[in-house]
Amino acid sequence: MELNGAGTVVTGAAGGIGDALARRFHAAGARVVVSDLNSEGIASLAAELNAVRPNSVHALTVDISSEEGNRELVAVARHFLESDDGPGISLYFANAGVGGGTFLESTSEEQWELAMAVNLHAHRWAMKYLISDWLARGRGYFCSTASAAGLLSQIGSGPYSVTKHAAVAFAEWVSISYGDRGIKVSCLCPQGVNTNMLRQSDDSGFAGATNVVRAAGVVLEPTEVADVVAEAIAQERFLILPHPEVSEYEQRKAADRERWLAGMRKLQARVLGGH
Ligand SMILES: NC(=O)c1ccc[n+]([C@@H]2O[C@H](COP(=O)([O-])OP(=O)(O)OC[C@H]3O[C@@H](n4cnc5c(N)ncnc54)[C@H](O)[C@@H]3O)[C@@H](O)[C@H]2O)c1
Repeated sequence: MELNGAGTVVTGAAGGIGDALARRFHAAGARVVVSDLNSEGIASLAAELNAVRPNSVHALTVDISSEEGNRELVAVARHFLESDDGPGISLYFANAGVGGGTFLESTSEEQWELAMAVNLHAHRWAMKYLISDWLARGRGYFCSTASAAGLLSQIGSGPYSVTKHAAVAFAEWVSISYGDRGIKVSCLCPQGVNTNMLRQSDDSGFAGATNVVRAAGVVLEPTEVADVVAEAIAQERFLILPHPEVSEYEQRKAADRERWLAGMRKLQARVLGGH
């Protein structure tokens, strides 16, 4: 896919990976709709990028944990990107995500519901409002940020493990269902990235999970991840692994599930101790 001139949407663009993706796509010549709950972050990003190329970025503050939020985002983005004969939405990047949640005994129903809504349903809701237009055009590119936790597991967080697996499953299913009708799909599955999500040790207890991520391997900068993503999208590759070793871990998991589970329990005991 050619990013120059493409109409793109990035959710969760107020910081971290989303901010880096929006900057990377913009630098490649894309028009970008940046969205987030955090209005300050996207407003300053849009102002900065619009100073480089006027009317190239639109910021929309929206909560994508509801179907209505996703419907609004797709409608506003379509309007902005189609104005002055632009190409409409060519690439939709469902990147916003939430951590939170730990073990069964200490995770609330609200934490499970929020993780399901943001990490999974938002992808499905966005595609629900994108798919008819894309099928009519015979093209469209859906990219999602899942996680290495969606291929392996997230020690220390049930909601994160389950919802990120579901995000990978949804992306695979869209590719299988619509790939022959011009719909491209990529799924980003990083391990540690130096963002607020990894740095914050908030009240949710997600700090245990982020300690495991730090112990598991190298922590990349968001800009490094964005470079890998831009290259993968140019090549229209499904699985995007900024940490290439994740592919080897996945193969080990598939080859010997019992051994892999025992190894993961050992890692949990080493980093989290008795929980
Ligand atoms: N940082 C890592 O180590 C890591 C590793 C693997 C995957 N990821 C995934 O990368 C993605 C981006 O996260 P990040 O690491 O840049 O962290 P981040 O916290 O900097 O970014 C997440 C963004 O999503 C936004 N967001 C959350 N809920 C929202 C909602 N309901 N509506 C709109 N926006 C909402 C937040 O405001 C925030 O700006 C997430 O999906 C995350 O799960 C992160």
